[in-house]
Amino acid sequence: MIAITGATGHLGRLVIAGLLEKIPSKELVAIVRTPAKAADLAAKGVQVRRGDYGQPATLGAALQGVTTLLLISSSEVGQRATQHQAVITAAKAVGVRLIAYTSILHGERSKLALAAEHVATERAPAVSGVPFVLLRNGWYLENYTDNLGPALQHGFAGSAGTGRIAAAARADYAAAVVAVLTRPDQAGQVYELAGDVPFTMAELAAEVSKQAGKPLGYADLPAEKYRGVLTSVGVPAPMADILVDADLNIAKGELDDRGGALARLIGRPTTTLAAAVSAGLARVR
Ligand SMILES: NC(=O)c1ccc[n+]([C@@H]2O[C@H](COP(=O)([O-])OP(=O)(O)OC[C@H]3O[C@@H](n4cnc5c(N)ncnc54)[C@H](OP(=O)(O)O)[C@@H]3O)[C@@H](O)[C@H]2O)c1
Repeated sequence: MIAITGATGHLGRLVIAGLLEKIPSKELVAIVRTPAKAADLAAKGVQVRRGDYGQPATLGAALQGVTTLLLISSSEVGQRATQHQAVITAAKAVGVRLIAYTSILHGERSKLALAAEHVATERAPAVSGVPFVLLRNGWYLENYTDNLGPALQHGFAGSAGTGRIAAAARADYAAAVVAVLTRPDQAGQVYELAGDVPFTMAELAAEVSKQAGKPLGYADLPAEKYRGVLTSVGVPAPMADILVDADLNIAKGELDDRGGALARLIGRPTTTLAAAVSAGLARVR
């Protein structure tokens, strides 16, 4: 029995769709905090169980009978180390034999502020004794292409300099999860997963500009100025700090990667920037 947390999220849904092509639905458990959001999964025969990372009492029941767990990192930044530990503790108690965890590219080597909670979670196997496989995901292409409306009006802004971003589509990372969960002997594996062709923000702007048929540039801003742009459009200050920190680290090459592990794992090239931009533009047109 394979359980997937965060099953109503973007990545979780793609993972379940991929697993349904390989595994009978009755062997899949979708762990969600709001079961009503997963009615479509239940209709496909997936067992939907309520489990809230912030309510440890819900997790033991949600994990009953589960042998393999995909722990998709929580979206509640700041609470994640505690939340993930609660899931791992519950998994150990019910006898889960393998936990696959979606971490951050380069793990403990990463200088991003976002990495701290992931690294804390990566260290859990040493304490819990449950075997882990680490899927260290790079940036999603969709971070840049999900909401192209404002960029089409004003162009792109950031503090990423000429740093390269080895981003891949969520669908690529989901395919990697499916590959790992359906292969034997994954305990202890660490995968650095990233897109095949890293790009700069200026190259992103040029691609959007070309496809939209409109001149668009990338304004590289000092950190404080970029932070001001983010907060002026309603990004909460703590999240603005995280985004500025990420960009400053992108400038230093922290989200670049040339290892090719993602393409090898999924047996095909990762989604191109051009394809992601095309899909993103189709969503705003
Ligand atoms: N690599 C990247 O570029 C990147 C970018 C953004 C995020 N991430 C990380 O990757 C994860 C998956 O990405 P995604 O696009 O699928 O994110 P997403 O669509 O925001 O999904 C996050 C999932 O986590 C669930 N969740 C949040 N808090 C929870 C709680 N307290 N208890 C149980 N479930 C909870 C959400 O449940 P609900 O459906 O009920 O809200 C949702 O299903 C994110 O959570 C985040 O850690 C990575």
